[in-house]
Amino acid sequence: MNVRDLRFVITGAAHGIGAETARVAAAAGARVMLSDVDDARGEATAEAIRQAGGDAQFCPCDVTDEDQVRALMERTAEAFGGIDVLHNNAGTHESMIGEEVTLDTMSRATFERILGINLVGCFLCAKYAVPHLRKSDYPSIINAGSTASFLGFPQNLAYGASKGGVAILTKSLAVDLAPDGIRVNAYCPAAVETNMVTKFVDASPNPEALKNMMARSHLVPRLGAPADVAHLVCFLASRESSFVNGVLWLIDGGSLAWRGTTDVLGMES
Ligand SMILES: NC(=O)c1ccc[n+]([C@@H]2O[C@H](COP(=O)([O-])OP(=O)(O)OC[C@H]3O[C@@H](n4cnc5c(N)ncnc54)[C@H](O)[C@@H]3O)[C@@H](O)[C@H]2O)c1
Repeated sequence: MNVRDLRFVITGAAHGIGAETARVAAAAGARVMLSDVDDARGEATAEAIRQAGGDAQFCPCDVTDEDQVRALMERTAEAFGGIDVLHNNAGTHESMIGEEVTLDTMSRATFERILGINLVGCFLCAKYAVPHLRKSDYPSIINAGSTASFLGFPQNLAYGASKGGVAILTKSLAVDLAPDGIRVNAYCPAAVETNMVTKFVDASPNPEALKNMMARSHLVPRLGAPADVAHLVCFLASRESSFVNGVLWLIDGGSLAWRGTTDVLGMES
């Protein structure tokens, strides 16, 4: 996993998978520009990485705002002398922004908001990063897909539609950017223990039961950890993965390899 000196820009890097990827990449010698809408937490995460000896900066950016996205890419290129890796990680779920999670209750504005962050944000960041990626020796884009890129889940309408879109955006970009030597891949996690999943679980009538059920749908009977995904992102960015392109890489503890829960196998979680 050689990412030494690669210049990363990571969206949604204040919390969860984005923050952990910033930590893992910086610890492996990458130069990392964190960005997020949560300025205080983003700054604090970058500062903690610097305290640990890493090379990290923070730039505020809402991925739905085209001017902010353009400025993020320009600032990263200026700070590091270029961009090698765009990690399109920023994302949210309808349960994070309210109660509108069913077809009957969801407003058009909520549906469009989720698509705006999770899907249009990836498009905008790719659009403004690519002029810089074209000048890199190891350019790649890594998008946040999901098991919801493949399957339907309860109360997941907007999120599922956005992650299905990310799947085909990933493959389409891999095709269009192949002549530039830019690889485009996506990681597709099952439930990973971050704010997003915690909020979704806590909003359910029986959080403990739901969390347990989620874990038991994985053949590795636990929720994912942000570090599990961060290491995959770094591999997809690394020099060793130069033949990996256009892939939707499941990192799901085996959840899509079967249909069941682990109690059927006599396993405890
Ligand atoms: N946690 C999971 O189980 C899981 C599973 C599959 C996919 N994912 C995907 O992984 C990515 C990271 O999710 P996470 O679990 O770390 O969630 P998280 O909620 O911990 O982190 C998401 C980050 O995105 C930021 N963000 C939200 N809206 C933004 C915007 N408009 N512009 C910029 N940043 C914004 C948030 O402030 C936050 O820091 C998301 O795209 C998510 O859909 C997560």
